[in-house]
Amino acid sequence: MWSRPHLLGIDGLVPDEVTFLLDRAEAYLGRAPKTDTLRGHVVVNLFFESSTRTRTSFEIAGKKLGADVINVSPSTSSLTKGETLLDTIRNVEAMHADTLVLRHGASGAAQFLVKHAKSSIVNAGDGTHEHPTQALLDVLTIRRHRKTIKGLTVAICGDILHSRVARSNALLLGLLEARVRLTGPRTMIPMNADALGPTVTIHQTLDEAVEGADVVMMLRVQNERFTGAMLPTTREYNLTFGLTRAVLLRAKPDALVMHPGPINRGVEITSGVADGPQSVILDQVEAGVAVRMAVLEAVARARGTA
Ligand code: CP
Repeated sequence: MWSRPHLLGIDGLVPDEVTFLLDRAEAYLGRAPKTDTLRGHVVVNLFFESSTRTRTSFEIAGKKLGADVINVSPSTSSLTKGETLLDTIRNVEAMHADTLVLRHGASGAAQFLVKHAKSSIVNAGDGTHEHPTQALLDVLTIRRHRKTIKGLTVAICGDILHSRVARSNALLLGLLEARVRLTGPRTMIPMNADALGPTVTIHQTLDEAVEGADVVMMLRVQNERFTGAMLPTTREYNLTFGLTRAVLLRAKPDALVMHPGPINRGVEITSGVADGPQSVILDQVEAGVAVRMAVLEAVARARGTA
């Protein structure tokens, strides 16, 4: 069911592979006991962009599987002295790293490394391209609450243009036959957004996207990736694309509210909704450890190191 030594993206996966990872992850949910599945295995977290959830959960996931987990921080590494990414990887591999977990600001960074690396590469977010483990944990969270993904309507709202989370989720939800509605300011919808899958539709307003939805997934405005002025003001953004209790009333009464984090409270979502009874945001975080355990185990087994 899983024979890939790397996880670079959702693009190219087939439903059986996704189901395999989700089922393995489900078994790891909750306070899963520590195992020695990856004993003697070295996982190196290489995060070139800041992270709380992804880096921490990969570390916990690796340790729960009995691996040795090392965190390399670019700001205190020899990258600051001019060493290239490739030389950094070659040196880490010379120390017998088995799996490299990479977050990088450049779209395609993980694909680039795979061509040169001997170890397993897991993409923990590359530029605006993909964040596969986030999409997997999102889908696992929806599956826990709704039992199935097929036929659900999921509204993904906000800064679609810069969001690797939106891209990976649109691909994965489409693969599992959910309907995906994308909405955001015109400047934040990519030209080819509907090419993300046959089930993707584009909506001009938040009200329209949320109407009757089973899941409402809000995204952070990624100011750090802006190349010019994309929004009039934060206040105007909040008024037109911020999720409030009033807007949420348009969705199904039991609709799930999701957000990959970090949240900008009062911008894309009010605190009342983020902390409200329909929010599963912390369930997403919990699912992140389980999904990353399943992924680390799967790539190691495929590579023959576990
Ligand atoms: N969702 C997510 O990727 O969060 P971090 O940036 O904190 O890892």
